[in-house]
Amino acid sequence: MTGSFALARDTYWVGVNDHETDLFEALWPLPYGVSYNAYLIVDEKITLIDAVKGHFLAEHLRKIRNLLPTGKSLDYLVINHMEPDHTGAIDILRSVFPQMTVVGNKKTLDMLNAFYGTGSTCLQVGDGDILDLGSHKLQFHLTPMVHWPETMMTFDTTTGVLFSGDAFGGFGTVDQGLFDDEIDLELMKGEMLRYFTNIVARYGQMVLKAIDKLQVLPLTVVAPTHGTVWRRDPSLPVSLYARWSAQECDPAVVVAYGSMYGNTYRLVQAAARALTERGITPTVHDVARSHASYVVADIWTSKGLILACPTYNTGLFPPMESLLAFLENKLLKDRLVGFITSYAWAGGARKALEAFAQRLSLEVVPPVVEVKGAGTVQDLEQCVLLASNMAQRL
Ligand code: FEO
Repeated sequence: MTGSFALARDTYWVGVNDHETDLFEALWPLPYGVSYNAYLIVDEKITLIDAVKGHFLAEHLRKIRNLLPTGKSLDYLVINHMEPDHTGAIDILRSVFPQMTVVGNKKTLDMLNAFYGTGSTCLQVGDGDILDLGSHKLQFHLTPMVHWPETMMTFDTTTGVLFSGDAFGGFGTVDQGLFDDEIDLELMKGEMLRYFTNIVARYGQMVLKAIDKLQVLPLTVVAPTHGTVWRRDPSLPVSLYARWSAQECDPAVVVAYGSMYGNTYRLVQAAARALTERGITPTVHDVARSHASYVVADIWTSKGLILACPTYNTGLFPPMESLLAFLENKLLKDRLVGFITSYAWAGGARKALEAFAQRLSLEVVPPVVEVKGAGTVQDLEQCVLLASNMAQRL
């Protein structure tokens, strides 16, 4: 998809697809790329809603120019979110369209100065304010901390399109199809969950507050700044984000393990097989090889979590330490956790795992398995018992 696409009357997608960035935020893999969605409303006042990453300015600008009526320019740029994947193009946009007014809330405009300096005419808006474009009336809804303090959403009261910023967004480009009725929905839901857990999850409570605020709006289209635009079922991204924000889980188990010489892995296999025999086939991740963005996403929708690793220099196996740091940062809660640890000459992993559970108030399912050396038949039986107890508790 190379052109601009209509979402609603006078309303066009002028975003770009990014297949070049391999790690979003220099952290999260992008096997299906990512889109930076921006939208143009061609009314008496011509308004750009959000922009794109600076690197993609030329394509973005070409799409905008193709839609501008002869002799017309941009009147407004509404910034729902200041992060540079949506504002990197601003500096040049405002030099190309010097008469353009930048619209944002107080925090947006503070950040605008911090990132790009002064140099624009600005219009500060507050919660509920209306901007009249002619036939379209835009209403602004402040939704702080979804996932930055300045985040807001813009609702077109004329067409029912909600420009939601990062909320309801997902990884994956939209070159296979922009709309939810055009795409492989299951694939995109997976990329959406990974986007949510990687980027937004820490602020789940604020997402729920935002969703609460949106309940009264008659949405016809949900248009986020990343990924699919939802026109067939605009309620679906909202309900998915609500579920994930509330950390509602399936009765499923993720087994995340690290193993240096195969001994911990043998214990993990016993637990995993025992779970499967009890009707719960776990999702198993080797934390040294599965990127944390996938492991965290699977954990997010699973009630049960078995963590297994050896002791490394009296502490946790480093990839496990890194995974736990992500989970703690994202405020994981209300999970059943089980632990399998091993050591050669000094323990340490068990203590660290138990401290993790305590900090996050997670329920530890017994027995905590701690094995010296390769593990005995009795140790394997303990792993089976842990799996059995976990299955019963789900
Ligand atoms: Fe897509 Fe938070 O920027």
